[in-house]
Amino acid sequence: MKIIVAGTGYVGLVHAAVCSEYGHEIYAYDNDARKIEAFTTGEAGAIERYVNEPGLAAIIRETHGRYLFFSTDLESILEGADAIFLCLPTPPNLNGSTNLTCYDAATRQIADVAARREDTRRLLFINKSTVPIGTARHLEGILKEHEVVNFGVCSNPEFLAEGNAVDDARKPDRVVVGCDQEQDFKIMRRIYSQFIHHVRIKYIETTPETAESIKYVANTMLLTYISFWNGVGAKIGESFPNVSIDDLRMGVTADTRISTWGSFVSNGAGGSCFGKDISSLIYQLRRVNVNTKMLEASYEVNEFQKIYLVDRAINEARFAFNNKTIAVLGLAFKKRTNDMRDASSIKVIECLLGRGVAKIHAYDPLANETARVCFDPERNILFEKISYFDSAKAAIEESDGLFLSSDCEEFRGLSRTIEETVKPPYLVIDGRRMIPDYKELTEKGYTYIAVGCQAMTRDN
Ligand code: UDX
Repeated sequence: MKIIVAGTGYVGLVHAAVCSEYGHEIYAYDNDARKIEAFTTGEAGAIERYVNEPGLAAIIRETHGRYLFFSTDLESILEGADAIFLCLPTPPNLNGSTNLTCYDAATRQIADVAARREDTRRLLFINKSTVPIGTARHLEGILKEHEVVNFGVCSNPEFLAEGNAVDDARKPDRVVVGCDQEQDFKIMRRIYSQFIHHVRIKYIETTPETAESIKYVANTMLLTYISFWNGVGAKIGESFPNVSIDDLRMGVTADTRISTWGSFVSNGAGGSCFGKDISSLIYQLRRVNVNTKMLEASYEVNEFQKIYLVDRAINEARFAFNNKTIAVLGLAFKKRTNDMRDASSIKVIECLLGRGVAKIHAYDPLANETARVCFDPERNILFEKISYFDSAKAAIEESDGLFLSSDCEEFRGLSRTIEETVKPPYLVIDGRRMIPDYKELTEKGYTYIAVGCQAMTRDN
């Protein structure tokens, strides 16, 4: 099949690459010529500057020029196409709703070209990015308005987790396809023939509106699950003596009906999807007068979770942040990514600066450069107080305390670095429970505050 993938962001590029492995002729389209040029080189460095996903560059190198093609010229590639995946940015507005400005502009431009095609075979328009419930219908309206002939619309949401996107795209738990007509389901079955009748993958055919809802409910459920553990499990560990949060997690998740994913308590879940999707769903439900208290609570627990450890250090360890130097380790929203979107570190750093911290020593193995852009001093003059370091050790040197804000595996060895570099009663705030031997640290006089357990200081 001839398939266009419009938008070569993280979702589009991964999807285009993985589809090209299954023998389809894929044309990845973007209006950003610099990106397209970078992808065309096939060089890992050039590709990863835009989308850094394990295994992605290798697929592109393998299939480029045979099954995978890149283009900035929609007109020349749309002729004879069977399907077009819309993988366009859908960022949030300040009120939580989804901003469809870019989506609308791009689909109008595509509709304009599609209306002028000579080959009028059926062309299926597929929404891949997360869009509000009813957007496939809205897309249908745009296509009709532009007088595109013989088209179908489909909602086929992505469920890719960053850092694992290639594997997730090759081996999804489920494929959700929402169409109105049998002829469109048929097109999708041909595109995804590798997933039909798979022993493990659920292939679900439904209406476009249901498919759109599945994406929101799945992400909101995941965040609610994390928020339950952070809001209840972690707080039990912090409020009562002798409760082991790790044993608590094991004891509860041993029930096979309850999953371990999400039970790893943290200083909040970040990333490009959860916050944006729960906000958008709250907005969509409020508009139809549905009570959204439960969802608001999940969202609030998650936001609270990002910074409350700073107040615990003040209240439980009597630490005064004013004029101190604090190392913030782990800037991206999770390990193995340089993605700063909705990262807990943003709230942590803003909170520390608000508490009068004189200097922030920032370090992330992958995200120092994206963090520099995120903490632009032009936007907030206080960000001038942030310096970036090439190692955790360098960031810790000459600091009064550290805040561990992501789950990078290298932090598991941090206790030794702490002992070698700084003297007790140095403050260690562990937002991800990454320091397994924290008891030895506190025995030596270091102060340890972590999510899920009571503060450990020289006095207690
Ligand atoms: C997520 C969903 O998993 C994916 O299906 C959806 O399409 C997009 O959003 P992603 O944003 O890449 O993917 O991140 P994910 O790995 O799910 O983690 C989200 C956040 O939750 C991270 O900050 C992570 O560290 C945190 N988390 C995860 C916890 O705090 N505890 C856990 O037990 C698991």
